[in-house]
Amino acid sequence: MRKIAIANQKGGVGKTTTAINLSAALAERDRKVLLIDLDPQGHATEGLGLASAYDAEISIADYLVGRVKAPLSEIILDAEDFYLIPSNISLFAAEQELSGMKRREFMLSNLMDRVDYDYVLVDCPPNLGVLVDNALIATREIIIPIQAEDTSLRALGLLFDQLNAIERSFGIKIKILGILPNIVLYDGVSKQTLDSLKGKLPLTPFQIKKRVEIKRAWRDGKSILKYNPKLDMADNYRRLADLVDQGGVK
Ligand SMILES: Nc1ncnc2c1ncn2[C@@H]1O[C@H](COP(=O)(O)OP(=O)(O)OP(=O)(O)O)[C@@H](O)[C@H]1O
Ligand SMILES: [Mg+2]
Repeated sequence: MRKIAIANQKGGVGKTTTAINLSAALAERDRKVLLIDLDPQGHATEGLGLASAYDAEISIADYLVGRVKAPLSEIILDAEDFYLIPSNISLFAAEQELSGMKRREFMLSNLMDRVDYDYVLVDCPPNLGVLVDNALIATREIIIPIQAEDTSLRALGLLFDQLNAIERSFGIKIKILGILPNIVLYDGVSKQTLDSLKGKLPLTPFQIKKRVEIKRAWRDGKSILKYNPKLDMADNYRRLADLVDQGGVK
């Protein structure tokens, strides 16, 4: 079972869009995929048309803090051709609760021992808090969506520091599968920024360009692979699935 966190503490760089569409692209290759929406904002849940789950009485939040010990299958939903553990309003409170608990960083890892999929993807919230620590420790592989602009690149330094800190504190290795440029515009600045990073960072050999269809698909509660399977960027998510299947950027 491969486990992958989609993370970057910078907001709005395309984490959720990547998580939804990579899940769909892996499912299209007949992989059995579980997506965990670990963001209290619940954007992946909403973007898969399952917003009503956000108010469910029992949720991943209860499992994380150990309040519920039933099988995880009870909160796993069908979403397109893959599975989803939805976010929930109680994840906000769970974040606080976890902060005071022993071995708080290992809660998600323990839960994952109880599921069996080809891939488990985790959509992370835009911070470097305890939920993201849980995601990184549980998965040990990360995809980092970025935007080709200076503020996004400065944020990367902080993320790398955090990855190093977790590796040192818990004696684990976290593999960067790829840094995925997202919402890329056809302007000189993006190109220049990305060119300057080539060879220094494990950038994916393709980018996700800005497409209004991607926004529309989210609003319609679908992946772009279902909403418009012929869109050029749907193909790039298929390439991402390929890259992930092959172990990431070499
Ligand atoms: N390639 C794209 N083209 C156009 N719009 C996009 C593209 N990728 C993402 N978006 C839009 O940009 C916004 C931010 O994307 P997304 O929610 O995936 O980012 P995020 O990193 O998960 O944000 P947050 O940090 O809030 O969780 C969303 O409205 C999304 O629909
Ligand atoms: Mg998000």
